[in-house]
Amino acid sequence: IRKEALAEVKEANNLKALQEIKVTYLGKKGSLTHVLRGMGKLSKEERPVVGEIANKVREVITAAIEAKTADLEQAEMEEKLEKEAIDVSLPGRPVRVGGPHLLTSLIEEIEDLFIGMGYEVREGPEVETDYYNFEALNLPKGHPARDMQDTFYLTNELLLRTHTSPVQARTMQDYGGTQPVKMICPGKVYRRDTDDATHSHQFTQIEGLYVDEHVRMSDLKGTLDTFAKSMFGDDREIRLRPSFFPFTEPSVEMDISCKVCKGDGCSVCKHSGWIEILGGGMVHPNVLEMAGYDPDVYTGFAFGMGPERIAMLKYGIDDIRHFYTNDKRFMTQYHHAK
Ligand code: PHE
Repeated sequence: IRKEALAEVKEANNLKALQEIKVTYLGKKGSLTHVLRGMGKLSKEERPVVGEIANKVREVITAAIEAKTADLEQAEMEEKLEKEAIDVSLPGRPVRVGGPHLLTSLIEEIEDLFIGMGYEVREGPEVETDYYNFEALNLPKGHPARDMQDTFYLTNELLLRTHTSPVQARTMQDYGGTQPVKMICPGKVYRRDTDDATHSHQFTQIEGLYVDEHVRMSDLKGTLDTFAKSMFGDDREIRLRPSFFPFTEPSVEMDISCKVCKGDGCSVCKHSGWIEILGGGMVHPNVLEMAGYDPDVYTGFAFGMGPERIAMLKYGIDDIRHFYTNDKRFMTQYHHAK
């Protein structure tokens, strides 16, 4: 039995075969067990001799099976390690990362500039009341200048804001008429327009407001000059032209100088050498008063600009619809723009 069993263990080449050998020899019906069970039929003298031999044989077989099991497990592990090895020197698959939208990075760049000049960044609702969008800005119901901004009305009183200027009134109210205000507010605005290369029914604006004692027109000019040079380069000049907004008096439109050049990218600046980029002015006394500020003590300036327009000028983009049609070829060009 011993010889046979050891030979079989030696031959076994997998764990299942070993298990079968164990059953065949040592199991309940195994051949060695059979010998041990039959001991009762032996004489007193024979019993201890046979018993000793049978137990030894069992020990030897058990040890052989255990040793072989360990060998096979080891071999299996090595094979597995070999097969599943990872070549850490292979180059990885590139992970595609997204990037901020051009308008997002431009707005952040403008925010950073104004934060550096002491402005706080605020937000306001896109669904606005008629009161804040118009009335608090010196545009009472029926005022003809309301036509300057074709409006999406939701109800009689609710509308999609046509500009970020309502945030002027909201901020001044929050400050309670007693503290200076210095804020900018970026956000989406909406107008009833037919979309084409230069019009979009939804676009963005950045509002600016500075209210304090003794704020003058020259402060507005200096601030806008700093903005224009930081955005477009130190060689740019600005010029203010008279204009009209019901919520500022006097009102201005600001142009920046641009190189007169022929060919792509400069087309917006073909003729005069100046291009309009924003509107602004001194906050109208009525607006200050409605928001709780005494116009005899406080003065202020405000301005509103369109990031799309600025981006179009800065990067030579010829169609405003590029910002909103999510063509990846367009968008990824500007992931590292500055
Ligand atoms: N709200 C004006 C517009 O959308 C821009 C503006 C802002 C003008 C602040 C003056 C002061 O056209």
